[in-house]
Amino acid sequence: MDVDCFEKWAENWEVSAESKVVAGIFVKELIGKNSKYILDLACGKGILRDYLCSNLPEAEVVYVDKAFAMIKGLKEIYPDEMALRGEGENIPFGEDKFDVVIIFNSFPHFMDKEKTISECYRVLRKGGRLIVGHSMTPKEINQLHKDVGPEVAEHQLPEKESFIKMFTKSGFNNIEYFVNDYFYVMGFK
Ligand SMILES: C[S@@+](CC[C@H](N)C(=O)[O-])C[C@H]1O[C@@H](n2cnc3c(N)ncnc32)[C@H](O)[C@@H]1O
Repeated sequence: MDVDCFEKWAENWEVSAESKVVAGIFVKELIGKNSKYILDLACGKGILRDYLCSNLPEAEVVYVDKAFAMIKGLKEIYPDEMALRGEGENIPFGEDKFDVVIIFNSFPHFMDKEKTISECYRVLRKGGRLIVGHSMTPKEINQLHKDVGPEVAEHQLPEKESFIKMFTKSGFNNIEYFVNDYFYVMGFK
């Protein structure tokens, strides 16, 4: 299975201080204050959880990850959160459900990126937003994956044009592509 490495790495999964800082920025600055239903897709062990809780205390958040061990780890830390195993290419929810879908530090690992984006579009409500972001630049993350080893060496972020094409094809509007010390693409349904 394509998340075998994450099943293996989940137990000792650590997130860097930099990732946490950017996770906080994304939650504060990219997720609208009125967002009520949020999907954290490829959530890992819940890096976004504390920021979501403190910034959007009224929101209902669902955490989904394809690796069972990540979901198990998240539930051990946050037993009261709604977390389930599922994949981005076949999101286990009906249409028009979420105000926000956020994919943080994970997009290179999706095997079918186009299908994942169209699935995010499907589960978003009209006016809802998809945020695909990373705590590093695309160049840095692509190099990191090559350095980590064969399991993820091929897990690369698409180029800007490819992102815009996939978002547009799925139906997203007002697409913003941002790179500075970190990176995100955001589009609205
Ligand atoms: C680098 S980790 C990041 C996890 C978390 N967002 C974080 O920042 O700590 C990538 C995550 O993507 C998940 N993943 C990979 N492919 C997936 C897919 N097709 N659907 C859902 N999750 C997936 C992995 O299981 C893993 O937990």
